[in-house]
Amino acid sequence: MLAKEEIERGLNTRLIGRKTFVFETIDSTNACTKTLGDAGMEEGAVVLAEFQTTGRGRHGRSWLAQPGQNLLFSVLLRPAIPKDLSGLLTLYASVAVARAVESMTGCAIECKWPNDLLLNGKKFCGILLENVFQQGELSYSVIGVGINVNQMEFPSELELRATSLARECRSTYDRAHLLQLILHEMDSLYDDVRRGKLESVSKEWSARCTMFGQEVSVEQHHTIISGVAVKLHYDGGLVLDTPSGTTTIYAGDVTIVG
Ligand code: BTN
Repeated sequence: MLAKEEIERGLNTRLIGRKTFVFETIDSTNACTKTLGDAGMEEGAVVLAEFQTTGRGRHGRSWLAQPGQNLLFSVLLRPAIPKDLSGLLTLYASVAVARAVESMTGCAIECKWPNDLLLNGKKFCGILLENVFQQGELSYSVIGVGINVNQMEFPSELELRATSLARECRSTYDRAHLLQLILHEMDSLYDDVRRGKLESVSKEWSARCTMFGQEVSVEQHHTIISGVAVKLHYDGGLVLDTPSGTTTIYAGDVTIVG
């Protein structure tokens, strides 16, 4: 099992991960971090678990991960950013994970809107951002990160779309070290992010995204929107050119057509 001491040793961050909570089994690290947020815990706290009984994914889906093989953690943040920019925190976490994974594996990482990271076209990481507002202001954010690190087997229905770092790079990885790299990247990007300066994160995320200029279809509440993915909107939405005009979408599952 990953030990708190192993994670904290060698962690030289100013804020992110200065307080860590490590569990062998938990319901969901996001649920636990929300409890800490409600209780007034200072920002930067990290909650990690080796196994989640009810790991949460987007749109009420579950996040399934074999115990002891992966990274499942959440970070509590209290950035002073306007409500309309709060969705960009997903891109912030994506960029931090992409940088860290690239430096550890040497493999190029792709960002897929809105919250996935891909390796060789398959998803190895999902990010679940849960923002909590009070009187119209962002009170705190929970950024949940699930990374398939050393897991080799996946359920047959996920086999074509899901992967792990170990499967793609044919090596096993030191999970504590990878977590430290990610927390360092988050820490160094956070100086700008906490003040609402998210342009460079959006730019780096966009440079890692391959869907711009491509025909995509987006499934949203059982309807499909088709169009060409143009760019990121300033608030993290996806701008699409559709036959009926330009539109910006904020949720949905995107597939590149063809
Ligand atoms: C998605 O791709 O749908 C997002 C998945 C996010 C999963 C992570 S695992 C750690 C954290 N705790 C949760 O319950 N979910 C996130």
